[in-house]
Amino acid sequence: MKTLSLFIALSALVHAGLRFPCSTLTIQRLDPVVQPGTSPSSHLHHIVGGNAFNATMTGDVGARGTCTTCQMAEDFSNYWTAHLFFKHPTNGSYHRVTPTPVQPLLGGSNGASGGLTVYYTQYDLSKDNLKQQPITAFQPGFRMTVGTPAKTGKPQTGLTYQCLSGSGRGPEITDFPTSPCTGGLFTSHHFPACWDGKNLDSPNHQDHMYNTITSNGFVNAGPCPSSHPIRMPQVTFETTWDTTPFNKLWPSGAANPFVWSFEGVAAGTHADYMFGWKGDALQRAMNKSECFYDGCGSITKQAMATANKCSVQLEVQEETDGWLANLPGFTS
Ligand SMILES: *[C@@H]1O[C@H](CO)[C@@H](O)[C@H](O)[C@H]1NC(C)=O
Ligand SMILES: *[C@@H]1O[C@H](CO)[C@@H](O)[C@H](O)[C@H]1NC(C)=O
Ligand SMILES: *[C@@H]1O[C@H](CO)[C@@H](O)[C@H](O)[C@H]1NC(C)=O
Repeated sequence: MKTLSLFIALSALVHAGLRFPCSTLTIQRLDPVVQPGTSPSSHLHHIVGGNAFNATMTGDVGARGTCTTCQMAEDFSNYWTAHLFFKHPTNGSYHRVTPTPVQPLLGGSNGASGGLTVYYTQYDLSKDNLKQQPITAFQPGFRMTVGTPAKTGKPQTGLTYQCLSGSGRGPEITDFPTSPCTGGLFTSHHFPACWDGKNLDSPNHQDHMYNTITSNGFVNAGPCPSSHPIRMPQVTFETTWDTTPFNKLWPSGAANPFVWSFEGVAAGTHADYMFGWKGDALQRAMNKSECFYDGCGSITKQAMATANKCSVQLEVQEETDGWLANLPGFTS
C-alpha cells in the first residue's frame, strides 16, 4: 500500500522528463570517453546501456547497438561511473559494493538487475516549460563527463551522497556518510545542460558544455550563456550501492571505509555519458510535455527481463569480485 500511494503521489507531481532504469551491462576497466583505445583503463567502472560499448567508440552508437540494458528500447547510450569499494578498516582488503536497483521503480520498471536510474529532464520534476525553453537532443558522437577523480574537498554542486535508511533517502551530503547506512548509499550525478552547439567532445570532455546548476536536486539549470547557448536535456544518474553487508565490518566510531575504484575520496565522484539514442527518438521524447515513466507515448519500452539479457563480452580479464588485496589496476 505504501508503494501504491507513493506511486499516485509521484504520478500526480512528475511528468517533465524521462526516468527509467538501466540494468548493469558490465563492470570493467574500460573508459571510451576519457581513455579511448586503452584497455584496460586506469580504474574500474560500473557501466549500463547499449551493447556497442567498447574501449573505442566513435560515430553513431545508436545505429550500431543491437540491445540495451535500459528500459527505453531505443536508447543504446552508455552511462557509467567509478565503482564503489569497501576497504576493510583493519586488514586493508577491498571488496566491490554491489549496485542495486534504485527504489521505487514504478510504471512497470521492476526487474532491473543492479544498474542505475537515468533521467532526462526538460525543466524540473514538476514542469516542462517547453514553450519558453525548447530542448535540443544530443547528436550522434556526443559525449561528456561530470566531476573529476582528482578533486579533493567537496564535489561540485549536483554530485551528492545520501545515506539510505528504511524508506528515507536522508539529506544530500557532499561526503561519504560518517556511520553505517541501514539502506545503502545513494549517489547522484547531475550533468550540465548548456552546449556550445558545435563540439561533440572537448579535450577535457567538459568544456563543450557549461554548467549553470547552482543547487543540488532536480532544479532547472539557469539560463545558458552565449558561449554555450543550446539548451540540452538535464541528464542525471542515480545509483544505489548496497553497502549493508559491510555495516558489521565498520567498527563504531571508525572513519568512513568506502572508496571509489581509483582509491578515491568522495569529492572525486564523477560520471560519463555517451549518447546513443536511435534516430530522433530522444528528440521526439524531449519535444513532448507529458513525458514521464511512460516513455512519452511514441518511445518504445522493453520489459526489464529482456533488457537484462543484453550483455557485452568481458574484454578485460581480471578479478573484480571477492576480497582483493588491491583495487583493480593498482599494485601495492
Ligand atoms: C570492440 O573492439 C574490438 C577491438 O577493436 C572488436 O574486436 C570488437 O568486435 C568490438 N566489440 C563491439 C561490441 O563493438
Ligand atoms: C580481510 O577481512 C575479510 C573479512 O573478514 C577477509 O575475508 C579477508 O580475507 C581479509 N583479508 C586479509 C588479507 O586477511
Ligand atoms: C521538435 O520540436 C522542434 C521545435 O518545435 C521541431 O523543429 C522538430 O522538428 C521536432 N522534432 C521532432 C523529432 O519531433
